Amino acid sequence: MIQKIALTGIKPSGTPHIGNLMGAIKPALELTKQYRSLYFIADYHALTSVRDKALMQSQIYEVAATWLAAGLDPEESIFYRQSDVPEVFELTWILACMAPKGLLNRAHSYKDSVAKNLEAQRDPDFGINMGLYNYPVLMAADIILYGAHLVPVGQDQKQHIEIARDLAQAFNQQYGEILVVPEPVINESVKTIPGTDGRKMSKSYNNVLPLYVPSKKLRQAVMQIVTDSKGIEESKDPETCNLFQIFKLFAKPERLEEVKLAYQSGGLGYGTLKQELFDLVDLFVSPGRAVYDQYIKDPDRIDHILKLGAHKARAIAHHNLAAVRQAIGMAR
Ligand code: ADP
Ligand code: TRP
Repeated sequence: MIQKIALTGIKPSGTPHIGNLMGAIKPALELTKQYRSLYFIADYHALTSVRDKALMQSQIYEVAATWLAAGLDPEESIFYRQSDVPEVFELTWILACMAPKGLLNRAHSYKDSVAKNLEAQRDPDFGINMGLYNYPVLMAADIILYGAHLVPVGQDQKQHIEIARDLAQAFNQQYGEILVVPEPVINESVKTIPGTDGRKMSKSYNNVLPLYVPSKKLRQAVMQIVTDSKGIEESKDPETCNLFQIFKLFAKPERLEEVKLAYQSGGLGYGTLKQELFDLVDLFVSPGRAVYDQYIKDPDRIDHILKLGAHKARAIAHHNLAAVRQAIGMAR
């Protein structure tokens, strides 16, 4: 029996955060016991927005060190950089030829950028590059190239996986059952971790609790969590409170109940709860932080790990791409 494949990627477009860990990295690492796993750094996806060479390089190392600090074992999972497997671009073109333009017009990030331009009364495509437009096709190729069955991601990536499914199905309809049609794995309880401002935690919103940064920086971020201005003695609603929603992710169930009651009855100040939350998060990240620091200090070691991973990934990519070429009438 063929072992099923789990695969996911993170783009190096900013400092990794608690949302990435809980929404994608941890669920992905849990799948390694049961599935063959491929995890990668989506550096070419980051090129749609990151244009500073030094920043790109350092963010690639940050994402790599994050995966390793979170527990990725490069012996167990294939861990690589997207850009080290150029086969992905050949498949990107092939899939692009199967992709209806209307499908990509409806992709969230492109649609949102157009909507922003219209709101600002600018040309709808102002500032939008073709990398952003084709982003979902490259992502579909990332997944389909390796025949991945399962893709652990946060809720925001659901539409992208649906596009990958559509493209795999369109290909199969034309050429026979060649491609694996992937399934998203979205864990209900962590599908959208809120950020310090209550919106989805995201590198692009500047609202993150960064993962393996020094305690002082983490503390600053926790203290920035936005709350209403209710005083200590006032009764508060835990369900609509962003601070409580983040606290919920880290507190033990008994403590959560106590805090919930204290919210309702009054007597608990936001400042006190922020301090408690900081202590919890700091404790949660501290074992990983030590590992992270070791890797960040040793980029050669990271390069070595990623190079070995790329070698393994390329072998799979090469094999699968050959089947695709054969199917479309381009066998060598
Ligand atoms: P960001 O939105 O910060 O740029 P990415 O797009 O690089 O993050 O996301 C990498 C992975 O982490 C994806 O699978 C994404 O769905 C997941 N993820 C990102 N933010 C969150 C969040 N706030 N809650 C749950 N999962 C998230
Ligand atoms: N688009 C994903 C994100 O922004 C990153 C990504 C690129 C990805 N290729 C992928 C995730 C393939 C899963 C599978 O988070």
